[in-house]
Amino acid sequence: MHTQQQSYLVRCSFSSESIAMDFPHCAATFFLFALLFSTTKAVDPCATQSDTSDLSVIPIYSKCSPFVPPKQESWVNTVITMASKDPERLKYLSTLADQKTTAVPIAPGQQVLKIANYVVRVKLGTPGQQMFMVLDTSNDAAWVPCSGCTGCSSTTFLPNASTTLGSLDCSGAQCSQVRGFSCPATGSSACLFNQSYGGDSSLTATLVQDAITLANDVIPGFTFGCINAVSGGSIPPQGLLGLGRGPISLISQAGAMYSGVFSYCLPSFKSYYFSGSLKLGPVGQPKSIRTTPLLRNPHRPSLYYVNLTGVSVGRIKVPIPSEQLVFDPNTGAGTIIDSGTVITRFVQPVYFAIRDEFRKQVNGPISSLGAFDTCFAATNEAEAPAITLHFEGLNLVLPMENSLIHSSSGSLACLSMAAAPNNVNSVLNVIANLQQQNLRIMFDTTNSRLGIARELCN
Ligand SMILES: *[C@@H]1O[C@H](CO)[C@@H](O)[C@H](O)[C@H]1NC(C)=O
Ligand SMILES: *[C@@H]1O[C@H](CO)[C@@H](O)[C@H](O)[C@H]1NC(C)=O
Ligand SMILES: *[C@@H]1O[C@H](CO)[C@@H](O)[C@H](O)[C@H]1NC(C)=O
Repeated sequence: MHTQQQSYLVRCSFSSESIAMDFPHCAATFFLFALLFSTTKAVDPCATQSDTSDLSVIPIYSKCSPFVPPKQESWVNTVITMASKDPERLKYLSTLADQKTTAVPIAPGQQVLKIANYVVRVKLGTPGQQMFMVLDTSNDAAWVPCSGCTGCSSTTFLPNASTTLGSLDCSGAQCSQVRGFSCPATGSSACLFNQSYGGDSSLTATLVQDAITLANDVIPGFTFGCINAVSGGSIPPQGLLGLGRGPISLISQAGAMYSGVFSYCLPSFKSYYFSGSLKLGPVGQPKSIRTTPLLRNPHRPSLYYVNLTGVSVGRIKVPIPSEQLVFDPNTGAGTIIDSGTVITRFVQPVYFAIRDEFRKQVNGPISSLGAFDTCFAATNEAEAPAITLHFEGLNLVLPMENSLIHSSSGSLACLSMAAAPNNVNSVLNVIANLQQQNLRIMFDTTNSRLGIARELCN
C-alpha cells in the first residue's frame, strides 16, 4: 500500500514530453487512486457490467474471476511463476510463423491458466451461456470447451442447449482461415482443426457458428471452435478469445460493427478487486492519443508488430545497433505487443545493453530474483531511472510500477524485464502485460496504428 503510493508520487514527477505526462491532474488522480483503495471493501465490481459496450477485463485470479489460485502466494512469487512460462510463450509465438496461415471488463489470469492472463466475460449461444475467456491478441481464432470434451474442466459450452448454433463444413471459406484445419480431400465433412497453444498444449476442435454477446453487443453467426479434446496444461479452462489481426479474429469477423478498432486497459496484476476494460469499436476511444504505425508481417498475420526504434534508461539512449531492433518479415524479427506474455522480453544483446545501463544508474549491489537479474535495495529506488520505449512517432515513459517489481519483503526492487530465451528462433522482442498495466492500448487495424495513453484502470 505504502509503496504503491510512493510509486505514484514518483510517476507524477516525470517532466519529459511523453505519455506519462498525459496524466492531467496528478494530485487529483492520486487522491482518486487512494480513495479507490480505501473503499475496495464496499464496492462489488463483479455485480454489474457497465451499460456501455465496454467489457470488464479481469485478472484471472481477481475477485470477479471464477478461477481460484491453487494457493496463496506472494504477488512477486506469482509473477515469477507466471513469468517462468514466458519462454514457452515466446517459442510458441515464433512457431506461429511456420504454419499456414465497445468496453468489456478484463481481469488478469495467473496460476490456474499457467500463463499470465486476463479474462473477459462473454455469453455464447441463445440463450447466452456465460464463459470467462482469455484475451489473446496474438491469436486469431476463438475456441471454447464443449460438452463431451476430453480433458477439459467442468465448465463447458453446451451446443445442444443453444437455438442458434450453426455448423460449418470444410467447403466454407472460414475453414481454411483457421490455423491447423484438416479436411478430407473429397466429400463434405465438418471442419476440424488441431492447434498447439502456449508451447506445451494442444487442442482439437470443430468449427461452428453461434451468437456471441459482448457486454450489450450481439454478434450473430460468430465462427469459433468447439473443443473436443485437449492435451497439456495450458489451454485456458473456459476458452480463448482471439483478438489477433487475421481474418478469423473477433475484430475481423465483427467487420463494420467495430470498424477494426478495439482497445484495452489492463489493471495491475496486483488488483484483486478491480477490472480493466475492453472497448470494442471506435466509439468511446480516447480522443487524443499518440500513435505509432502497426507493421504487417504476411508470415505472421496474427501478430501486432510495432516499430521500436530505441530504448532510453533515464536520460541515456541505450546504444543498441539498429539491426537488433529492425523489423524483418522474413525472419520474424522485430517487436510485438502481446497480451499473453507476462514480462517484456528483449533479444539478449538488447536486454543486456538496457540492463547494463540501468545497473550503472542505480546503487548496487545487484542481485537476482527468479527471472529478474537486476535487483537492488528498495531504499535506493528513488534514484532508479525511468525506462522509455521509443516507438516510431511515440515515446512511452514507463510508469515506475511498470518497470520495477518488489520482492515480497519489500526490501528489493527489480527491473521487471528479461532476456528472450536464447535459441535459434530468438529474434522477437515482446512488450508484455506487466509493462502495459494502467495504460490504454488502442489497436486500430483499419488505419494500421497503435495508440497508447495513460489511464488508471485499477
Ligand atoms: C446436451 O448434451 C449434454 C451432454 O452432451 C447433456 O448432458 C444435456 O442434457 C444436453 N442438453 C440438452 C438441452 O439437450
Ligand atoms: C494434435 O495433433 C498433434 C500432432 O498430430 C497430436 O500429438 C495431438 O495429440 C493432437 N491434439 C489433440 C488434442 O488431439
Ligand atoms: C521504423 O522507424 C524508423 C525511424 O522513423 C524508420 O527509419 C524505419 O523505416 C521504420 N521501419 C519500418 C519497418 O517502418
